[in-house]
Amino acid sequence: MVKTIGIITPGGDAPGMNAAIRAVVRSAIFHGRKVIGIERGWEGLIRGEIFEMDLKSVGGIINHGGTILKTKRCPDFKKKAFRKVAISNLRRSGIDGLIVIGGDGSMRAASLLSKESGIPVIHLPASIDNDIPYTDDTIGFDTAVNTALDAIDKIRDTASSHERVFVVEVMGREAGHLALEVGLTAGAEAIMIPEVKNSVKSVCKKLRDGISRGKKSSIVVLAEGAGRAHDVAALIKKELKLNVRVSVLGYIQRGGSPTADSRKMASCFGEKAVELLLKGHQSKMIGIMSNKVAATDIQKVFRGKKKINMGDYRLADKLSI
Ligand code: F6P
Repeated sequence: MVKTIGIITPGGDAPGMNAAIRAVVRSAIFHGRKVIGIERGWEGLIRGEIFEMDLKSVGGIINHGGTILKTKRCPDFKKKAFRKVAISNLRRSGIDGLIVIGGDGSMRAASLLSKESGIPVIHLPASIDNDIPYTDDTIGFDTAVNTALDAIDKIRDTASSHERVFVVEVMGREAGHLALEVGLTAGAEAIMIPEVKNSVKSVCKKLRDGISRGKKSSIVVLAEGAGRAHDVAALIKKELKLNVRVSVLGYIQRGGSPTADSRKMASCFGEKAVELLLKGHQSKMIGIMSNKVAATDIQKVFRGKKKINMGDYRLADKLSI
């Protein structure tokens, strides 16, 4: 029977993580359990940077991006000797159930720790990339989409004033989910993602067709996994002899006050994670599929790969003629 729940946010942060932390802490205490916060991800666990959390620890954080537990990349965690120190710190603090909030890398590390320690882990998918299978959405994705969308709407103002082409690079690591969602909702003339081999030549043809039917400015959304904005811009400029500018949105996509969607999903996921731990479950990832919160065996998640929504890709292409 899990009595003390540890919570950790290793890896890249995502807006909504604090809403998830709040839900875990409040649900656990509601059910009479202790909660131990682990600061600065796996490195903090190795260093023993842990503290007991209470209802006040998570007051006034639901609307803040980032993670109050901080995070830090920790290459040392790949070494068993460091994981052994981490496990002894878990045991010393009495943690007999762990909730990890993060992306694929964080979940794989937590799964290894669980196997080596026997401590049950429940995983909450949090990443602006939304590249995790067995969940339609991840904590932070909706906020990142809206942040990038707001930026592109602003870029479109100056693009139309100067009648320019803009190449806007968004994050997403090796996946194109963020770029596709942003490109579709921004009405971009072209979207370049790693999952679809579309050459700069085909992008130039699309832009040229638009110009010939009267378009005075265009937006190309480029996923960072599909190339560098400056390189693509130079090729378009050479091919079309046009005024091309670049905006690399970067880390603005990782921050900001989480949207209602991100907050609600994070809150549901956090409560569900505590519920599963108290029912004796382990090695499960919480997800949302067809609007239902579901739990999937983590090994099945690791074997999966999230496919790009080609229906959205084709829709974006059709509506931007
Ligand atoms: O995985 C989230 C993410 O923001 C990616 O989209 C991006 O490529 C990466 O993290 C950046 O990693 P870091 O924060 O370590 O620079």
